[in-house]
Amino acid sequence: MNICIIGGTGFVGTHLITELIARGHRVKVITRRPERHRHLKTLPGVKLTSIDFFGNKILERQVDGYDVVINLAGILNPQGPNTFTRVHVAVAQRVAEATCSVGTPRLLHMSALNADENGPSEYLRTKGRAQKQVLATEGLNVTSFAPSVIFGPGDNFFNLFAQLLSLLPVFPLASASTRFAPVYVGDVADAFINSINQPQTYGKNYELCGPDVYSLKELVQYTAKQTASKSLIIPLNRFLSRPLAALMGLVPGSPMTMDNFNSMQQDSVCQNNQAVNDLALSLHSIDSIVPAYLAGRDYAGQMDFLRSKAAR
Ligand SMILES: NC(=O)c1ccc[n+]([C@@H]2O[C@H](COP(=O)([O-])OP(=O)(O)OC[C@H]3O[C@@H](n4cnc5c(N)ncnc54)[C@H](OP(=O)(O)O)[C@@H]3O)[C@@H](O)[C@H]2O)c1
Repeated sequence: MNICIIGGTGFVGTHLITELIARGHRVKVITRRPERHRHLKTLPGVKLTSIDFFGNKILERQVDGYDVVINLAGILNPQGPNTFTRVHVAVAQRVAEATCSVGTPRLLHMSALNADENGPSEYLRTKGRAQKQVLATEGLNVTSFAPSVIFGPGDNFFNLFAQLLSLLPVFPLASASTRFAPVYVGDVADAFINSINQPQTYGKNYELCGPDVYSLKELVQYTAKQTASKSLIIPLNRFLSRPLAALMGLVPGSPMTMDNFNSMQQDSVCQNNQAVNDLALSLHSIDSIVPAYLAGRDYAGQMDFLRSKAAR
């Protein structure tokens, strides 16, 4: 199939594209900055193109003739004009409109677990609005996916903890008791790909969780064990977590923001496992994947891993 992906240059997109190519599909990636994503250009059958999403009919021309459109665009921290509303809602709406207007039959949309118009953070509220609007687009076969936190080589979760643990002799941890069900990026890619030709998935939103649930404290302790970190982890209660989140938002690179903190006021665990049956998923535990990439925690090694998978 010919597949067009928006938001495909990041962590999830790189894994998904690698898997699509390995299964013989051709992929076009729409990105704002093709020059920054050379790792994708080296994959056979991948084309990168840059457009103005809101330019007159430009997106329509780009998605015309494709069998499937996938929208993964998303941010954790807004910057300048790239607000949550613009990236999550306006881009998603444009993608759905353009896909529908050129008669492309299939749209896969990336949402997030707990996405809800009335959710506790702007991230979750805008994801919730987009999910509702995209699923309601008439004349389009949409499937939406709502993962808990996603892990795998190149992730911004275990890798971030490992980096912080290596830098900080004392690691104060906000929202330490919030629970997550981390899902492997390869399983997320399988969910997307397995849904494509399954009419029973049209119009549905699938929660995606890994097989096990952990508190944030357990996940940071796990990372410390894997990386042999001696950092002292100090779980903070809710009262102390808030000022820490505010402070972390000021640190360059913002390892945590107030909006991230607000998202974590809810556990990120699935209410059902319908995806496992409907999408024939075989879920991976963190222990079967994480130790290998935390052990060789360098970018080149992680990219080699992706290339060797694509060359399979
Ligand atoms: N990672 C997780 O744990 C997790 C969990 C639940 C849901 N999700 C969702 O999964 C999706 C992919 O996540 P990820 O971890 O792969 O994120 P990522 O690595 O940060 O990649 C995000 C992608 O969004 C695109 N993007 C950002 N700002 C944009 C804008 N203004 N206009 C158009 N595109 C824009 C980027 O494309 P360019 O820069 O190339 O234009 C990039 O390819 C996101 O929607 C995220 O919310 C992720």
